[in-house]
Amino acid sequence: MKNVHIVTGGGSGIGLDTAKSFKDGIVIITGRNEEGLKAAVVELKAAGIEAEYRVSDVSSRQANKDLVQYAATLGKVKTVVNSAGVSGGQASAKKTLEIDLLGAEYLVEEVLEVAQENTVVILIASMMGNVVPDNEAYDNFLKNPQSEGAIDAIVQVVKDESDIAYNFAKKGVQMLAKKWATKYGEKGARIVSLSPGIIMTPMSEQAAADHPEQMAFMKQMTPSGRNGNPDDISHAVMFLADDKSSFLTGIDLTVDGGLTNRLPEIAKIMAAQEK
Ligand SMILES: NC(=O)c1ccc[n+]([C@@H]2O[C@H](COP(=O)([O-])OP(=O)(O)OC[C@H]3O[C@@H](n4cnc5c(N)ncnc54)[C@H](OP(=O)(O)O)[C@@H]3O)[C@@H](O)[C@H]2O)c1
Repeated sequence: MKNVHIVTGGGSGIGLDTAKSFKDGIVIITGRNEEGLKAAVVELKAAGIEAEYRVSDVSSRQANKDLVQYAATLGKVKTVVNSAGVSGGQASAKKTLEIDLLGAEYLVEEVLEVAQENTVVILIASMMGNVVPDNEAYDNFLKNPQSEGAIDAIVQVVKDESDIAYNFAKKGVQMLAKKWATKYGEKGARIVSLSPGIIMTPMSEQAAADHPEQMAFMKQMTPSGRNGNPDDISHAVMFLADDKSSFLTGIDLTVDGGLTNRLPEIAKIMAAQEK
């Protein structure tokens, strides 16, 4: 049976680089913008990868159902990488939570239906998820984004600020990998999250254009002395996806050049500068 690898948000950035890293089977990339996906499939095919695209909005339950069921008709759903996402600057707080968090859980539920031995789900979160403090009240909403009123409650907690909503959504994504690991384990399957630091893609280029000084400062503070590239992440995705990593599940892997450890220090410096 042929392996099928799904990469949501596979038309650009981290998702596209990840799609290029699969060495077997068929890769299905998704996104909302058909032109970008078409161009990406041309690029993948030129690199010798069997690839196709589906226009599919991750924040739609039905779209996720259709995507996963279609993928299962092609072979064994072996790897699912959820790289689809928007940053705070790209959408309202509510929309950011619906795409980045709710969409991730819809996908996880649909994949569980077809998961088999050694199926792996890798949810792309963010190091910014690491900056949201633990708090029982909102952690319950983050862990259960489909519970009644959860998204609206988080929008209230973040005071409708989309940049903060992004951080909360990504903390929620990290929590989803932990929450779903047992159910996946019952099928011999795995689920993990991966939290990138600053990776040079269209998303971070937009952030650099919006806040150039802040981004330059973060780079200067990064222990590895550089921003990441998409292949820093796709390399880690391939490590997580490998069957030799079969004891890794329900974890978050932060791939950030060491920056998370310095975020509290950075916040203090920035707060002092604002005074
Ligand atoms: N770059 C970084 O520094 C960084 C750091 C931490 C985490 N991340 C995370 O890494 C992931 C990939 O980001 P990137 O940096 O590679 O940015 P990117 O190039 O903008 O990729 C995001 C992709 O998500 C797709 N997308 C957005 N909303 C979608 C939706 N509702 N349904 C389906 N697809 C959707 C976009 O395609 P369409 O526009 O066609 O829908 C795009 O291809 C995101 O989850 C992001 O939060 C990035």
